[in-house]
Amino acid sequence: MSGAGDAPRRLRPETLAVHLGLEPDAATGAIAPPIHLSTTFERGEDGSYPHGYVYSRPGNPTRDALERALALLHGASEAAAFASGSAATSAVFRALPSGSHVVVPRDLYHGVRVLLREVLAPAGLRVSEVDQRDLGAIEAALTEQTRLIWVETPSNPLLHLTDVEAVVALARAHAERAGARVLVAQDATWTPPGWADPFALGVDLVVHATTKYLAGHSDVLGGAVVAADPIGAFERVRALQRVEGAVPSPFECWLTLRGLRTLPHRLRAHAVNAQALAAFLVDHPAVRSVHYPGLPGQPGFEVAARQMTGFGGMLSVRLAGGEGAAMAVAAGVRLWRRGTSLGGVESLIEHRASIEPEGTATPRDLLRLSAGIEHHDDLIDDLAQALARLAV
Ligand SMILES: Cc1ncc(COP(=O)(O)O)c(C=O)c1O
Repeated sequence: MSGAGDAPRRLRPETLAVHLGLEPDAATGAIAPPIHLSTTFERGEDGSYPHGYVYSRPGNPTRDALERALALLHGASEAAAFASGSAATSAVFRALPSGSHVVVPRDLYHGVRVLLREVLAPAGLRVSEVDQRDLGAIEAALTEQTRLIWVETPSNPLLHLTDVEAVVALARAHAERAGARVLVAQDATWTPPGWADPFALGVDLVVHATTKYLAGHSDVLGGAVVAADPIGAFERVRALQRVEGAVPSPFECWLTLRGLRTLPHRLRAHAVNAQALAAFLVDHPAVRSVHYPGLPGQPGFEVAARQMTGFGGMLSVRLAGGEGAAMAVAAGVRLWRRGTSLGGVESLIEHRASIEPEGTATPRDLLRLSAGIEHHDDLIDDLAQALARLAV
C-alpha cells in the first residue's frame, strides 16, 4: 500500500478491519475468502508438505486467516483461535506451571468461576478471588507461587473497573521480588479492539470469547488468545490448541472473519446505544442504579475514561422494585430479546442471577442489557413501556 521508500502507513481501524491482511484467492481470484474444509493436505512425492499444511487440527488455512486477522486487529504478533471463549480461557490457565497460584476477580463471567472451582482447582491450581477494584486486595493476595493475574474489566455483570496499568505494575514488582514472571491476562470480551488496548497497558495475554462482539451476530461460538510477543506462555497455549484440537471449524472461522470486517462500525453503534440507554435509565424512578462505565460521577468512571477508548455496549440496571420488578420488565419488552449472551446486532435483556449457579452474588434485582445496533430511540421506547407497566 505504500510506494517504494515510503514509511508503512498505519491503516485506520475501519480500513484495517475490512482488509485484515486478506488477499484475493491465489487459485481463483475470489475476493471473499474461501472456506477450506479439507482436514488433510497432500504430501509431495518426496514426503514433504509443499503447501505447509498437514492436517486441520494443528493448522488449517481458514483458521490461519482468522488468526492473522485477530493478531492484526490487536497490533499483536500471535493469535490462537479456539472453539469457545471458555476453551481459550482454560488453555491460558492450563499453560501455567503446575502448582501455580492465580488471582482472579470476584465479579467475573460465571463460567470462568465454575471452570476454576470445579475443574482447575481440583487439578491443583490455587486460586484467590479478590475485589479487583481494590489494588491493595490484589497485592495482598500475591504469593511466591503467583504466576498469573486474570483481569476482566468492566466485569460481568457488575461492570466493576480495574486499573489495568496499576495491576501490570504490581505484577512486575512482585515478579522481581519472587524471581519468576507474573503474567497479566485480560478477558477482553467486553472490550474488543476499538474500545480498549490492553497491550498498550502492558498486559501479556488477551483472551476473547469471539462469540460476542468480534463475530457479532449471535451465530457462532469461538474464542481466541492473543499475544503481543511470542512469549513462552503463548507457545504453551498454542501447543494445547494443536494437541487437543478445541478449535473452531473452518465455517466458524469464516463467519468470525466475516463479522470482524464490520467491527468498528458495529462497535460505534453499540456504544452510542448503550450510552443513550444508560442516560435514560439513570433518571428513571423505577431504577435503583445503573452500572455503565460511561456515566460521569459513577465509581470507576475515571479509570474507564483513562483506559477505554469506548465505554462499551454492556450495562446493568437494578430495579427499585426488586426481583419481581426486574422479571416484569424482562417479560414486558417487545423489541428486546430475552436471552443470555451479548455483543450481537440485536439487543438482549437478561435476569442475570437466575442463569448463574445457585449462591451467586449477583443481585436478584439486576437486569443485564446488551445494547445491539438498532436505533436507540426504539430500544428506549420499548424499555419505557415495559417500565411504565410496573407502576400499574
Ligand atoms: C466475559 C466473558 N468471557 C468468556 C465467556 C465465555 O465465552 P464462550 O461462551 O464462547 O465460551 C463469556 C460468555 O458469556 C463472557 O461473557
